[in-house]
Amino acid sequence: MAEAATSPHTAAPRTAVGFAYDRDALHCDDVLIADIVREVGTPTYLYSAATIAIRLRTLTAALAGTPHALHYALKANSTLALVTMMRTLGARADANSVGEIEVALRAGFAPGEILFTGVGKARAELERAVTLGVYAINAESAGELERIDAIARAQDRRARVALRVNPDVDAETHPHISTGQRHNKFGVPLEDAPALVRAMHARAGLHVAGLHVHLGSQMMSLEPIMRAAAAIVGVARALKAEGVPLDHLDLGGGLGISYDGTPGPDPQAYAAILGAAARDTGLSLIVEPGRTIVGPAGALVARVVDVKPHQAGHFVVLDAGMTELLRPALYGAFHRIVPVTRRHAPAARCDIVGPVCESSDILGLARELPLPRVDDLLAILDAGAYGSAMASNYNRRPLPAEVLVQDGRWRTIRRRQTIDDMLAGEL
Ligand SMILES: Cc1ncc(COP(=O)(O)O)c(C=O)c1O
Repeated sequence: MAEAATSPHTAAPRTAVGFAYDRDALHCDDVLIADIVREVGTPTYLYSAATIAIRLRTLTAALAGTPHALHYALKANSTLALVTMMRTLGARADANSVGEIEVALRAGFAPGEILFTGVGKARAELERAVTLGVYAINAESAGELERIDAIARAQDRRARVALRVNPDVDAETHPHISTGQRHNKFGVPLEDAPALVRAMHARAGLHVAGLHVHLGSQMMSLEPIMRAAAAIVGVARALKAEGVPLDHLDLGGGLGISYDGTPGPDPQAYAAILGAAARDTGLSLIVEPGRTIVGPAGALVARVVDVKPHQAGHFVVLDAGMTELLRPALYGAFHRIVPVTRRHAPAARCDIVGPVCESSDILGLARELPLPRVDDLLAILDAGAYGSAMASNYNRRPLPAEVLVQDGRWRTIRRRQTIDDMLAGEL
């Protein structure tokens, strides 16, 4: 790794990508994190632009043999500058609400580059999507198809619609982010899909764009996606044999990342499964990755505000918690937590917790690290996905600042929320 960049906002020779130590100081893309935090304060999300670019290009290259479109799932992280960056890197957009559609538009995406997914789309959201002419709406039920059809006919249009199929396959992930089993609220049962697609064709307000499946998020095994792909390919082939035309096969997102530093699933193998499925049907492929692109590119940097002993170790209390990063409290998710400046001292058992008035406000239990002191900085790694996007104002805590590190420089892409921002809509 090159000599540390010591001055924020200035270019430095860049040789390391992502979060790495140079001697005892943690850097992001070779920029000294302590320097950034001195100006921006804590808690702050830091993103490595180089990591995002590499991960997006790796997946795109792995899919190169298959006609495809990569729609970045905004739900993973919809901070405007990052969404804009996805566009400049050649991605399209996958939005889960009209709010995400508006962010995608402001990031410069054309309506025809935006997919609209989501299990409960309000009428006003459907109207906006139809009026804009988004690339496709992933429909979740027969009732939703009817509503889209009526809205489109009232505007004398045909809305492009894909049918979300629930293949009843266990994604082998946390139950809260598993979406493709019969008992989950998502999509229509596989066996109902052919009749629904035929009925869609008969509707004057709909253009049947394709079939959609999204099994779940943080999938570490590729076996479930293989089974889901086989199921949906079966439906697509049967429809083709009947002469029912489709444009694309949307196999969703969900590729997992490693949160503990061990190797994660291989994007090449993942792309090979998706590509084979698309080729089997002769349809073009759509993918909706989120976490795999931005997860490892982000870290949440927080300051130690208190250290106190307990029976079995120490509580290390940070100025960030479940309000900034909900995943550990929500799913029991594991994130590596490392010092921004390493201390050379014996390891102690640390229970790293947040400041929020909830006992579930835990970031990491039983971590072995040299006992931090008040005002030390810790970095919670792999926090780029479902981190800032899930942050809240609970306990009237302001949303954190966000910083993008790019080409040896850094800039604030979201300033820390103020109490005035927070109260702006209150009467
Ligand atoms: C329909 C849909 N597409 C794409 C994604 C993105 O998933 P991931 O971030 O795991 O790639 C999600 C998230 O669960 C989703 O619900």
